[in-house]
Amino acid sequence: MRLANKILLITGGGSGIGRATALLAAREGARVAVADRNLAAAQETVAMLAGPSGDGGLAIGMDVTQSADCARMVEETLARFGRIDILCSNAGYGIQGDVVSTREEDWQALFDVNVKGVFLCAKHVVPVMRAQGGGAIVNTASNIAIIGLKDRVTYVASKGAVDSLTRAMALDHVAENIRVNAVAPGPIGSPYFDRMIANAPDPEEFKRVLHSRSAMNRLGRPEEVAQVIVFLASDDASFVTGATYVVDGGGVVM
Ligand SMILES: NC(=O)c1ccc[n+]([C@@H]2O[C@H](COP(=O)([O-])OP(=O)(O)OC[C@H]3O[C@@H](n4cnc5c(N)ncnc54)[C@H](O)[C@@H]3O)[C@@H](O)[C@H]2O)c1
Repeated sequence: MRLANKILLITGGGSGIGRATALLAAREGARVAVADRNLAAAQETVAMLAGPSGDGGLAIGMDVTQSADCARMVEETLARFGRIDILCSNAGYGIQGDVVSTREEDWQALFDVNVKGVFLCAKHVVPVMRAQGGGAIVNTASNIAIIGLKDRVTYVASKGAVDSLTRAMALDHVAENIRVNAVAPGPIGSPYFDRMIANAPDPEEFKRVLHSRSAMNRLGRPEEVAQVIVFLASDDASFVTGATYVVDGGGVVM
């Protein structure tokens, strides 16, 4: 019961790492608001929640790039649960391309979700945490912000920004008892990679390449990232702020 009596709000909670985190958080005692651009997916996650609190959770359809949506997400969560103890800014996606092949509009669209989305959610949630006397924020970065990755300039740069933003926010809000940390997953078996593997010219070869990016020679599971997010969100991490926890099976140390 690492999150007993906590209210957790997660973006991108309709799939992959976000869904696994919502489900684990509920098992650990949290009541969960699941926000996603795909409302049906968020509702599906909520239907899967089996928290000991017996509270079915809340699904919110919203787009993290829209300030009004972020404000409504906070209002709906407060209306249902009365407070927000934990924000997990997890919504994000990746695209391929180097600086020449990447279209300017695709760069901008990705930065709007991966970076501005983290900024906007925090902008609307921090005042709530401040008024409550504290809270915890966990952002989802990526290990490629540390090691780089060929042909992914936009995604790598966006996750580097999430990593730095996490440290900056940690300093800004430490006196308000708000801890801000990040996880940096390596390749995780999720719908995102399932789609990439299925669309690759040689799916088996592509899978082998993905596996070779971890020292453990496998993809991680969304639940393995969720475990670290829940730790960082919990009071067990009471002396941890401004940290980025790498969850990549040893990818960065290879
Ligand atoms: N899967 C990996 O290997 C991996 C590795 C490192 C980092 N990450 C990061 O982890 C996070 C989750 O990834 P995942 O693999 O679970 O992805 P996923 O595609 O399975 O889930 C992402 C969810 O975010 C939602 N979303 C996308 N844009 C949104 C928006 N503008 N507003 C609200 N919701 C939006 C999607 O609808 C989806 O439900 C992302 O930030 C991703 O960059 C993933």
